[in-house]
Amino acid sequence: MLSQFRVNAIGPALVAKHFLPQLDRRSRTAAVFLSARVGSITDNKKGGWISYRASKAALNQIVRTASIELARTHPNAVVTAMHPGTVRTPLSAPYSKGHPTVSPEEAATSILRALDRQTETGKFIAYDGSPIEW
Ligand SMILES: NC(=O)c1ccc[n+]([C@@H]2O[C@H](COP(=O)([O-])OP(=O)(O)OC[C@H]3O[C@@H](n4cnc5c(N)ncnc54)[C@H](OP(=O)(O)O)[C@@H]3O)[C@@H](O)[C@H]2O)c1
Repeated sequence: MLSQFRVNAIGPALVAKHFLPQLDRRSRTAAVFLSARVGSITDNKKGGWISYRASKAALNQIVRTASIELARTHPNAVVTAMHPGTVRTPLSAPYSKGHPTVSPEEAATSILRALDRQTETGKFIAYDGSPIEW
C-alpha cells in the first residue's frame, strides 16, 4: 500500500509542487495527471484493489486541491485528473481480458485531444472528455 501511495500520490504531488508554479501565467496551459476510473469512490461498486484505488483517490484529491490553489495565481491553467482508458501495457495485461483496449499511442492521442477541449480546471475526466464522479 505504501508503495502504491509513493508512486501514484506522493510522486505526482511533488511534481505538482515543483512544476505547476512554473506554468506560464498569461497563456492557456494544461497539466494532466494520470489517474484511473477505479480511483472514483462513487464509481466503486465491486471493491478490490484497495491500495491502487485508495492511492488514485488520494491523487484525485491532490489534483483537485492543486487546481484550486493554482487558479489563484494562474487563472488560465487547466489541471486535470485523467482516466486514460484500458491501455495495453504491462500494468493492465493481467486484468484486460475481455475488455476493449487501446494502444498507448491511441491513448496518448485521446488524452491530448481531451485536454485540448478541457476548459474547466480541477476536473476528473476520461480519455474521451467525459466527466467521472469523484
Ligand atoms: N494501462 C491501463 O489500462 C491504465 C488504466 C488506468 C490508469 N492507468 C494509469 O496510467 C499510468 C501509466 O500506466 P501504464 O499502464 O503505462 O503502466 P506501466 O506500463 O506499468 O508503466 C508504469 C510506469 O511507471 C513507472 N514506475 C513504476 N514504478 C515506479 C517507481 N517506483 N518510481 C518511478 N516510476 C515508476 C515505470 O517505470 P519503468 O518503465 O522504468 O519501469 C513505468 O514507466 C499509471 O498511472 C496508471 O495507473 C493505466
